[in-house]
Amino acid sequence: MQSYQRQYLKEMGIDVWVDRNTPVSINESVVEKSISQNKVSVQPENQPSVLPVELDTLAKQIAVCTKCSLHESRTQTVFGVGNPDADWLVIGEAPGADEDRQGEPFVGRAGRLLNSMLLAMGLPREQVFIANILKCRPPNNRDPKPEEVTACESYLRQQIDLIKPIIILAVGRIAAQNLLKLETPIGKMRGQRYQYPDSELPVIVTYHPAYLLRSPREKRKVWEDLKFAMQTYKAIT
Ligand code: URA
Repeated sequence: MQSYQRQYLKEMGIDVWVDRNTPVSINESVVEKSISQNKVSVQPENQPSVLPVELDTLAKQIAVCTKCSLHESRTQTVFGVGNPDADWLVIGEAPGADEDRQGEPFVGRAGRLLNSMLLAMGLPREQVFIANILKCRPPNNRDPKPEEVTACESYLRQQIDLIKPIIILAVGRIAAQNLLKLETPIGKMRGQRYQYPDSELPVIVTYHPAYLLRSPREKRKVWEDLKFAMQTYKAIT
């Protein structure tokens, strides 16, 4: 295990001895380059990314969306952020207060932990694409309503069609169940390779970083999930 990987596992709160016997292959040069260029912001910067024209058109369409009532309470839509050519698409639930304010997904405490999870996999935040099931914040961070998920569904599908990721990492129950159209408890979804509906795109499920902040003991399970996701990715590339 490399020292920088140890460092990010430590940030995730995972003791290295948990993984001593499990070799993990990660893209060392990408991590080192990212660190040396100081790109690994613990608090992500809110810089508008330059999107290819089709994604940009979609983002502009979403920005004025009024398909559900969430448009009435949002500050702004949260389209997603990252590499438009990403192999990895990370999908969360919905913007929270910080994300609604900044227009970028996963920028709060949970976002910092997500960054550490990604870095432990050798994936700087900038290298993946991060989006949510919902593009608008539900008031008081309540769970998304089915009609809101339905209204937003085609946006996520269009993002997937344009980005063409190789693998999806669904973080949290809401993301996993809505993405896969399943009601299976998240604990039972872990360790399974699912497919995004009507495609062969693999989906791996793990716990939401906000849940990990409340239940740090579960971080070991998440590291198992992330290793499983990396193995799945490696097997298809
Ligand atoms: N939680 C999510 O699921 N998505 C965000 O963007 C922020 C917090």
